[in-house]
Amino acid sequence: MRAPAAVILAAGRGTRMGPALPKVLHEVAGKPMLIRLLDAVEAAGVRDIVIVVGHRAPEVKRALKGRKVRFALQANPRGTGHAVLCARAALAGRTGPLLVLPGDAPLVRPETLKALLGDVAKGAACSILTAEIEHPAGYGRILRDAAGDVEGIVEDANATPAQKRLREVNSGIYAFDAAWLWPTLAAVPATQARKGREIYLTDVVAAAARSGRTVTGRVAADPAEAMGINTHDELACANAIQRWRLVSALMARGVLVADPSTTFIETEVPIGAGTVIHPFTVIRRGVRIGRDCQVGPFAHLREGTTLADGAEIGDFVETKKARLGRKAKAKHLAYLGNVTVGDGANIGAGTIVANYDGKAKHETVVGAGAFVGSGTVLVAPVRIGRRAMTGAGSVVTRGRNVPDGGVVVGVPARPLRKA
Ligand code: UD1
Ligand code: CA
Repeated sequence: MRAPAAVILAAGRGTRMGPALPKVLHEVAGKPMLIRLLDAVEAAGVRDIVIVVGHRAPEVKRALKGRKVRFALQANPRGTGHAVLCARAALAGRTGPLLVLPGDAPLVRPETLKALLGDVAKGAACSILTAEIEHPAGYGRILRDAAGDVEGIVEDANATPAQKRLREVNSGIYAFDAAWLWPTLAAVPATQARKGREIYLTDVVAAAARSGRTVTGRVAADPAEAMGINTHDELACANAIQRWRLVSALMARGVLVADPSTTFIETEVPIGAGTVIHPFTVIRRGVRIGRDCQVGPFAHLREGTTLADGAEIGDFVETKKARLGRKAKAKHLAYLGNVTVGDGANIGAGTIVANYDGKAKHETVVGAGAFVGSGTVLVAPVRIGRRAMTGAGSVVTRGRNVPDGGVVVGVPARPLRKA
């Protein structure tokens, strides 16, 4: 098979999402939609990827910094067909299968993209990912003939009442035979749309059917894969679905997630078997959790947190760049930032690691087996020795390291005199 290429459309105005971010940069389970899609395309084995940018192009390009993609510019959004045509020059000479994806379809899986590419490699002019859904309003509807073959796609706005009742919708994700697509798309006439005349990519499907070329309509086994995000409501829905996917993958690997509906785990967080995640817990990207840990309820684990096997983080504990050793514990009401906590150390309720002096973050080390008393403030940089103790309410000021086995109390903390 000649090497496949892909075009991702990200030039549209996304007016239904408001101005906070370009639409394709809204996050689904902690990853911008466009990045999530790009990851899926790469995982499907596609190396040559052109992103069509236009509306807020500099922001979109910045989000893709460091990624191996090329850009094509669509200065004025004049429809999905026009957007694809804007990538034509960048892909000149490429005759293999070409994936086309809208930037707002974050839930498609790599295997699905491979199947579409496979259809084209076997001779189809076009393979479309479709889905049967309960509420098809807003999507293009798939028109099939009496034999069940795809004849065309009609946009929601142009559909007759009978067509609006069709529940098979267009995902906007296709593979095309590139050699066929370019001349065919160039010949598609513009259609009168709400915001002026547009070239609909969907119109090439009827052209293929008319010319006798094969068009495959693949109904997604999981309709979420075909989801397009146009509104905040749909974004929230996609987030819930993606979160559920992540949590079920973890549960299949032996992690106990007590209440998936109140657990927010971002993409690619490795968690070991036997670990229990209690309700209302937020675990961000860049966190690693070992085996047999306890996390939550109401815990917030942020980037750079690692929990070694058997560590415990309890309720109302926030961690960032915190490395907890085996069986280390912070069970209640604590902030742990830029800190290394040794094996078996116990962080008492109400402990705050004051890691930020207003200008820079500093590191704190709590040695193995140390006991940090309730309400301790550790002003970084500072080191608490192995098996050392701090009294309840003590404030250990910066640089006032506590030696191994030492005991400090008070504000500012001083060594405790043996009575
Ligand atoms: C499109 C499809 C519809 C399908 C739906 C699936 C067409 C005409 N319609 O409709 O059949 O059911 O997706 O979600 O293709 N874009 C550009 N330039 C443009 C227009 C759009 O880059 O001029 C990009 C957008 O940024 C977006 C994607 O193309 O990422 C899809 O555009 P959108 O306006 O969301 O299309 P839909 O109306 O959802
Ligand atoms: Ca859309």
